[in-house]
Amino acid sequence: MCGIIGCVGREDETLDVLVHGLSKLEYRGYDSAGVALTGDRLGICKQAGEIEALREALEARTLSGSAGIGHTRWSTHGPPTDENAHPHQDCSGDVAVVHNGIIENYQQLRDGLVSAGHHFGSDTDTEVVPHLVEDELAAGADPETAVRRAVARLEGSYAIAVVVAGSDAVYAARNDSPLVLGVGDGTGAAEDADAPGTGEGDGDAAADGQAYYLASDVPAFRDFTDRVVYLDDGEFAVLSAEGCRVTDVDGNTVDKPVDTVDWDPEETGKSGYDHFMLKEIHEQPRAIRQCLRGRVDEMTASVDIGDLGDLSPTGVQFVACGTSYHAALYGAQLLREAGIPAQTFLASEYATSPPPIGDALVVGVTQSGETADTLSALREAAKRGARTLAVTNTVGSTAARECDHALYIRAGPEIGVAASKTFASQLTALNLFALGTTRTGDTRDVIAALRELPSDVQQILDDSAAEAIAETYVDADGYFFIGRGLQFPVALEGALKMKEITYKHAEGFAAGELKHGPLALVTSETPVFAVVTGDDEMATKTVGNVKEVEARDAPVVAVTDGQSTVERYADHVLDVPETHPRAAAVLANVQLQLVSYHVADKLGRSIDKPRNLAKSVTVE
Ligand code: G6P
Repeated sequence: MCGIIGCVGREDETLDVLVHGLSKLEYRGYDSAGVALTGDRLGICKQAGEIEALREALEARTLSGSAGIGHTRWSTHGPPTDENAHPHQDCSGDVAVVHNGIIENYQQLRDGLVSAGHHFGSDTDTEVVPHLVEDELAAGADPETAVRRAVARLEGSYAIAVVVAGSDAVYAARNDSPLVLGVGDGTGAAEDADAPGTGEGDGDAAADGQAYYLASDVPAFRDFTDRVVYLDDGEFAVLSAEGCRVTDVDGNTVDKPVDTVDWDPEETGKSGYDHFMLKEIHEQPRAIRQCLRGRVDEMTASVDIGDLGDLSPTGVQFVACGTSYHAALYGAQLLREAGIPAQTFLASEYATSPPPIGDALVVGVTQSGETADTLSALREAAKRGARTLAVTNTVGSTAARECDHALYIRAGPEIGVAASKTFASQLTALNLFALGTTRTGDTRDVIAALRELPSDVQQILDDSAAEAIAETYVDADGYFFIGRGLQFPVALEGALKMKEITYKHAEGFAAGELKHGPLALVTSETPVFAVVTGDDEMATKTVGNVKEVEARDAPVVAVTDGQSTVERYADHVLDVPETHPRAAAVLANVQLQLVSYHVADKLGRSIDKPRNLAKSVTVE
């Protein structure tokens, strides 16, 4: 997840505004950053590393201009290098572009541009945009028309900002990726600033100290203004000294309301959500889409995970901690289903595991790529002669660098300490890994279900009854979670989430194991969340376990797709859309995340930073 900032204002202030904005967006990604400013000529400075490194590089440069754009990058595609950092330029160096999102048809566009003689300097999808603008300018279009025409050729999701040499404006477009405008109120004149959409202004922004901003998220410019305009999909904006104009796809002016942000600048990174965790739960459709991007082909039922598909391991050992351990349990089941012996170990217990056999692969599942227990297990595995793979969210992390291979889950930065979207992305990535390395089973059905996952998750986010259920059981003594097969790790994860953010007692069990001990703890004060999807033998057996707890007066909340008879024995139902069993696990987990979140919220817990817990645990 990258961050965009743009500004049109006083020539002696714009660069500072951009760099300040980038520092506010650093939470979105921080492996490289850059800025471009335009006056008569276009100046650019960009490099791998953190904002501080960019600041130092800028000290040695004389960049100036009243219009500028900036970007922080969180690599998901192409390593964090100077070349891949944004802004990207065309061949002439007169156009600079920053972009957030995915340009689905970039390969096709790039091939066309290359055969027309354009030279590309990066691995990014973004770079097609400046070259497309260059072609339009060369054909005689004015900058606004050139950018508009280039954008019209893009398919996919994007928030884009463009500057062109000789034009004191920033051009921006949005589709399926956030972009918000800020209406400057730097001086008295700003009070009279015309709202975007009018196409009018006092024409002397620089002299009045008036400025206009754009960003992926309000915190980037919240220190300068609280007046914002949220762009909608398909809209196009021009920020210039004359004002700020928003138009639709066809170029018709759109009258946009100017909202006043009443959030504390400190809070704004949550985009209006009360907590980062809730925001991240809601980001799951996008995270899953990003994980799948360019890796699955529904037509040919094939998966492309690069050279990882050639690993052909004779056996796999997974090592992981916390939420990632639950993802690893799920991943191991997928491999076993495909006939590959696979085991999962808590990373901190790996020293007690049997040595990897033959041409085995040891997979470290770690969101941060920095968890000390997991790193130590991976190092032990390497010492034992195994090949290693990191399944991680963090490009350039220690796990990614030290392992022989890395598979990125591409969830974007997760701020909430309790993992949410990264779990969904881990399950998705592990499906790709299993499909890519084993190539057996019902590939077509799984791929179709994975493609549907984002919209299925969205359906749950839109319709979930979790908040009402949380209200009903907020005072419960404890919570139990049961599931079988692929829903067993989901039961464990449901309980872990509940513990982490509510501080209440919660346990997850394999459904069949409940009667072997934990049943003694079940009372009318302990709701049991039963995850039952499908109507196979496993589901029937879990329904039997549900009957056991129901007979002990425990309230039952069924998380189900309605295929089994579990609803008959349940007091409440959390619906999940009917899908492939592998995808059903991701969906059931979203319902459980929401329950834990709402219980914690009603208890007034510190949801994003639960007591005693840290996002990345770098000690063993
Ligand atoms: C910590 C966090 C957990 C996380 C675990 C593994 O314990 O509090 O939320 O699941 O580390 O983190 P990793 O970055 O390796 O996935």
